[in-house]
Amino acid sequence: RTQLRGDELIVVSNREPYIHEDTGHGTIVKRPASGLVTAVEPVMRACSGTWIAHGSGSGDRGSVDKHDRVLVPPGKDDYTLRRIWLTEEEEKGYYFGFANEGLWPLCHVAHVRPVFRENDWQEYRKINQRFADAVVAEARSEDPVVLVQDYHFALLPALIRKKLPRATIITFWHIPWPNPESFGICPWRQEILEGMLGSTILGFHTRFHCKNFIETVDRYLEARIEHEHSTISFHEDTTFVENYPISIAWPSDTTMATWAPVAQCKERVLQRLGMPPGHRIAIGVDRFDYTKGILERLHAVERLLEKHPEWIGKFSFVQVAAPSRSSLEEYRAFQDRIQNTTRRINERFGNDSYQPVHLLAEHHESDALNELYRAADACMVTSLHDGMNLVCKEFVAARDDERGVLILSRFAGAAREMSEALIVNPYHVEETADALHRSLTMPEAEQRERMASLRMTVHEFNVYRWAGRMLTDAGRWRLRERIEARV
Ligand code: G6P
Repeated sequence: RTQLRGDELIVVSNREPYIHEDTGHGTIVKRPASGLVTAVEPVMRACSGTWIAHGSGSGDRGSVDKHDRVLVPPGKDDYTLRRIWLTEEEEKGYYFGFANEGLWPLCHVAHVRPVFRENDWQEYRKINQRFADAVVAEARSEDPVVLVQDYHFALLPALIRKKLPRATIITFWHIPWPNPESFGICPWRQEILEGMLGSTILGFHTRFHCKNFIETVDRYLEARIEHEHSTISFHEDTTFVENYPISIAWPSDTTMATWAPVAQCKERVLQRLGMPPGHRIAIGVDRFDYTKGILERLHAVERLLEKHPEWIGKFSFVQVAAPSRSSLEEYRAFQDRIQNTTRRINERFGNDSYQPVHLLAEHHESDALNELYRAADACMVTSLHDGMNLVCKEFVAARDDERGVLILSRFAGAAREMSEALIVNPYHVEETADALHRSLTMPEAEQRERMASLRMTVHEFNVYRWAGRMLTDAGRWRLRERIEARV
């Protein structure tokens, strides 16, 4: 908060932090499953300002609606949420099409082919322009600090820069950035890079992604790169490229005091799932997305039961999979595959009273997830590729008993910080199965040692530090520009 000193703050993201739905008997407010929202929302609560997002609940897609501009969180009114409504056609092209069938697989390199359609690209350009206009309309000063979030808005920084040349634009790319060869297949690579270089600061989760971005610019644009300062100068503008590992807000003592004891969480979860006391469980918590490595994880569970039949009847794997982007064929096919594999494993190793895999394919609120995190013997985060991944950090934050084992993919950004986890290559089923066995047999003292150390890391490198570092860098930049303008 101190970094801003009265400056105006505007956040832009596709996903909104609260969804207002009219039920006929009043409005219910929901929270979406999104790592981005998990991270940015506490920052907005602390700083206030305006958050501009695509409205996804009930609302009038046309003219003025009561949900167009609301104060949130409900009852607290810390900041303004300004919604932009899109037609079905626009959402199909900009969000489902170019963002999620084009950029998402392009940047994740999870071996799903990106699809590039001219029409999607035109919608994407149009919607980026509409959000840029909204930023200009919302801005009360000529030099606001604008935080642009993610791959839905690659063109936004340059569009804002054109209208508000004195704005400080911080763009954060929440997903990986691939190497130049991989990125190079995008037909509009130049426009995308030019759009992003309208940013004052461009952030990625890891140094590795920054390096990939700088190399991509070097390959496809005529820009001046100063590796020593990590800056890129293109036309009139200079962009500082830096890594800012995102995180979560560490739960306060008051919040922790409301949590049920771990033993009770365990009891409740086992009972709900029809498992006997003492049954061991590992969990996975993800959006139902092909980048998360859910299939490979199921194969590892199957391999564990093959290699160590002593776990049959005594251990189950529980996967929470929040429905996501389900209107896309690729996602539906993936969901079918997971359901079939779950059924097959259950038929192979289960019986009337024992189910080795529980697939809970529905949205869970954060309290229910917290209970599950506390009940689990192990948490499997085995993404094939992930910018950061916040589930592993949420799991660690939930374990004030310092027990439970984290199994973490080496291809998640989080692996760079959380080396006390059991780090695995999710493509290597044998290795993941062995890690699972190890987690279930790990002595308590070792669990405690690893968990205590992980908790220190996440506590210290929390989301306020993520935002704080970015805003401090932005503050320094603004100061330098003011001084230079005087010369
Ligand atoms: C990732 C992306 C976010 C996105 C989230 C959920 O975390 O980086 O931008 O909000 O997935 O996906 P969705 O398409 O439902 O917003």
